[in-house]
Amino acid sequence: MKLDHPKLVRLLQRAYSGEKAAAFAYVGHAGSLRDPVQKAAVRQIEEDEWKHRASVLSIMQRYEIPVSVYEEVKLHVIGRLLSLSCYFIGWFMPYFFAGRLESGNVCEYFVMMQYFHTLGIKEHDEVLYEMGMKEKEHELYFLNQIRESPFLPLFEKIFGWGVRSSNDVDAENRVPVEGATQYCRSGGGELPKRSLD
Ligand SMILES: [Fe+2]
Ligand SMILES: [Fe+2]
Repeated sequence: MKLDHPKLVRLLQRAYSGEKAAAFAYVGHAGSLRDPVQKAAVRQIEEDEWKHRASVLSIMQRYEIPVSVYEEVKLHVIGRLLSLSCYFIGWFMPYFFAGRLESGNVCEYFVMMQYFHTLGIKEHDEVLYEMGMKEKEHELYFLNQIRESPFLPLFEKIFGWGVRSSNDVDAENRVPVEGATQYCRSGGGELPKRSLD
């Protein structure tokens, strides 16, 4: 069965390649950290991203959606550059931009769920919900590392993500999977722009 939903197809293709870029970036991020606890936490997040990539691929295969060569090449290069940059841009920025990226990824999975529902497809709800919530955990992990940083208020103002600005997923009061399509609808259900673009 093919999906008659070009936006959903593109979103799946971008998420598949985006997960690779994120995983690459976290290789550099973990490598640039000295604290073994922080290093291990970022490595774990990298592992999660590879699992997400595999899950997205299995959904794509179900509907015969090809991997986008353009996205794969573009996000490969971006991921490698981000990975390298972690060694040069100090401690704060890799955490900040990782958190901002994760914040967008949270909504990607809930918007996918909304799109699937417009086609009457609910069989991926659990997987999409788990991935969205895992991205939320990642987002909060990165935010908590920099919460007290004096740079955060300025970066939040410029880049629109931080303690006060995020998606509408409240990790402490999660709605169950059946209600999760209510998330990420601000802005008319449009997907917040991925910061990797
Ligand atoms: Fe992910
Ligand atoms: Fe993530």
